Amino acid sequence: MLKKRIAFLGVGNMATALMRGIIEAGLTRPEDIVISDINKERLRVTSHELQVIVAKDNREAVKEADVIILAVKPNDMEGLLSEIKESLDSKKLIISIAAGITTSYIEKMLKKEVPVIRIMPNTPVAVKEGASAFSIGEYVSQEEEKIVKSIFGAVGKIVKVEENLMDAVTALSGSGPAYIFYIIASLIEAAISLGLNKKTATILAIQTVLGSAKLLQETGEEPAALKKKVTSKGGTTEAALLVLDEGKLKETLDKALKAAAKRSQELKR
Ligand SMILES: NC(=O)c1ccc[n+]([C@@H]2O[C@H](COP(=O)([O-])OP(=O)(O)OC[C@H]3O[C@@H](n4cnc5c(N)ncnc54)[C@H](OP(=O)(O)O)[C@@H]3O)[C@@H](O)[C@H]2O)c1
Repeated sequence: MLKKRIAFLGVGNMATALMRGIIEAGLTRPEDIVISDINKERLRVTSHELQVIVAKDNREAVKEADVIILAVKPNDMEGLLSEIKESLDSKKLIISIAAGITTSYIEKMLKKEVPVIRIMPNTPVAVKEGASAFSIGEYVSQEEEKIVKSIFGAVGKIVKVEENLMDAVTALSGSGPAYIFYIIASLIEAAISLGLNKKTATILAIQTVLGSAKLLQETGEEPAALKKKVTSKGGTTEAALLVLDEGKLKETLDKALKAAAKRSQELKR
């Protein structure tokens, strides 16, 4: 268990998913989490559901915590930082999950030598299968890196990257769950058009994605090698893969990730 009090400033989709994950993983007790949000109804619902503590405002949440997780939308970050900067000191670790907001921007806004870690998680943290990548600012110690690894490691996998690779991370794993949901929904629709009912198609499609990912993870084999094992000459898989190649799925995914990375770059501050 992490013996730190954690504040979440902004209690939207991502913060809620993360809180749920770390409480379920037993990393933090609900009474060691303090939340703050401008949306009072959201605070009420979340504190009722997760039994976490509600702070009067962002400043009070900061004062009461050792680790401050900034979980507002990127556009709200400037206002939030100027609101809390007087309440911060170098002993409090700041973790920002906001897309495109750099550690140097946060350091510059705070005008203080505070430890800042930027992380890009994804929504599967809610079921402890998140994929998160982090990079560190100027004043982060190894001890503080361990804290971020224990929080996000409790809800999935976490890797450290150079900050200039955050656009690529955003394109791959930050936005990635949406691509997979899109693919699963399309597989279900296609299977229904072949005669399966929705329930059966949904079970089979989800389990196929889950099982394939697990097989990759547990065997450590290359995706291409596992693909080859499923594909026999003149068989059904080969017939389908030919169509995917004709439809340029690989090129389309390449373009999609590049578009996301470009957008991430454009939104950067
Ligand atoms: N969703 C994802 O998959 C994902 C993945 C990786 C990273 N992120 C990052 O996570 C962050 C949060 O995303 P989200 O989807 O969870 O957003 P969200 O659902 O809109 O939640 C943000 C919350 O912060 C509140 N808020 C706005 N300004 C505030 C302030 N000054 N003080 C306190 N609370 C404030 C918002 O209230 P109002 O709604 O009233 O404005 C809202 O309740 C973003 O920066 C995003 O880039 C998201």
